[in-house]
Amino acid sequence: MSQPEPATTPLEVEQTGVGSVFVSNYPPFSFWNGDCLPAVDRALDAPGEAAAPFGLYLHIPFCRKRCKFCYFRVYTDKNASDIGRYIDALGREADLYAARPALSDRPLGFVYFGGGTPSYISVKHLERLVGSLRDAFDWNGTLQEFTFECEPGTLTRTRLEAIRRAGVTRLSLGVEHFNDEVLRENGRAHLSAEIHEVMPWIRELEFPVLNVDLIAGMVGDNEASWRDTVEKTIDLDPDCVTIYQMELPYNAVYSAGVLAGELDRPLADWPTKRSWHRWAVERLEQAGYEVSSAYTMVKKGAGVRFVYRDALWHGADLVGLGVSSFSHLGGMHYQNSSDWNEYVGGLAAGRLPLARAYPTTPRERLVREMILQLKLGRLGAGYFAEKFGVAILDEFAEPLARLERQGMLRLRDDGVELTRAGLLQVDFLLPTFYDEPFVGGRYT
Ligand SMILES: C[S@@+](CC[C@H](N)C(=O)[O-])C[C@H]1O[C@@H](n2cnc3c(N)ncnc32)[C@H](O)[C@@H]1O
Repeated sequence: MSQPEPATTPLEVEQTGVGSVFVSNYPPFSFWNGDCLPAVDRALDAPGEAAAPFGLYLHIPFCRKRCKFCYFRVYTDKNASDIGRYIDALGREADLYAARPALSDRPLGFVYFGGGTPSYISVKHLERLVGSLRDAFDWNGTLQEFTFECEPGTLTRTRLEAIRRAGVTRLSLGVEHFNDEVLRENGRAHLSAEIHEVMPWIRELEFPVLNVDLIAGMVGDNEASWRDTVEKTIDLDPDCVTIYQMELPYNAVYSAGVLAGELDRPLADWPTKRSWHRWAVERLEQAGYEVSSAYTMVKKGAGVRFVYRDALWHGADLVGLGVSSFSHLGGMHYQNSSDWNEYVGGLAAGRLPLARAYPTTPRERLVREMILQLKLGRLGAGYFAEKFGVAILDEFAEPLARLERQGMLRLRDDGVELTRAGLLQVDFLLPTFYDEPFVGGRYT
């Protein structure tokens, strides 16, 4: 099923307006609802497919400060005893899941601690949490990757040792930028000196993969300062560099200022962010990295994998623990409550704190995987024919031909390949593939 040509093509959007551009799922969250929750219970009670990839996402919603561009559920006012109660709730949630037929005896392939700031929690809390996860799920011999997001200023040598001891294989460092004025302006809790301070410890502890997050187009940034940030990132010699183009979702601090016309600092428009992103990709290529997705550059030939991303983008079962976490299990989408009391209170009372759900159709799962895999820069027609029985080059011939005419992709006999221009604005292209009811849906 194809869609009519939109009145304005996404490619014409220039100003950084308020709203989410980043596509993380399909159908969009605004279509999920409380009425569908009974179907989650049914999915959890159905025996799981033992061979299907399965992982956990844990949302650790604590930060030293809220970044002014941040749109995630985070708290900056919780004390150690609140955090202790949250850790206990996560442990109970893991136990409740491990007891359900869909997940009992499922080998755990990957774990992702995201936030918020996982590195904000104490060693004692981290050890308690990882202990409860290991009690609930056996991952000996099956876990391929354990990712842990860190804010540089929260790391000490002792804390990094505990993170490594816990089994973390992929450390993800939220550097974002190296210019202190830009970091301060955007409300980051750390400055550049703290990045340099933690690097020797990270190296000594030999994490198998070090990723560095950067954002192109932070408020107050300019071309020279962005280029300097890319150079300093290369000097750090990470295995993987993730580059996001800054967006201003509705619940970010900056967004209110932009809507009121009160932001008086430079804010790069989309063509500028794309050109800075392109420069970074080309500079990283010169420095020995290669493109692994629209956002990620990895060291060439070093076998750097990102198991969580690839599993998620190929329809794996992923159970999200924590306040506001998203899950996808046996074709069901669902999300936990975003309210602290409902989350912690629900688990204290022995129930999963679910808020909304959406049972996907096979067609929706096909479109979901297509748009997520397009972020890798290519689609294999054979994969979709085998998994969904659909010839995507025929089924989506019209939108694909339109994007080819716009110079965003090349059609091949065996699939689709995005051009670099397409890859640098992939999130603007993806709604082209949405079925009619979901066009204009919101990611909130
Ligand atoms: C969930 S955040 C956690 C960051 C972590 N708390 C830290 O301080 O490093 C993960 C990443 O999302 C990216 N990010 C967050 N908000 C963003 C926005 N508005 N636009 C683009 N990227 C964003 C940042 O690169 C960030 O490192």
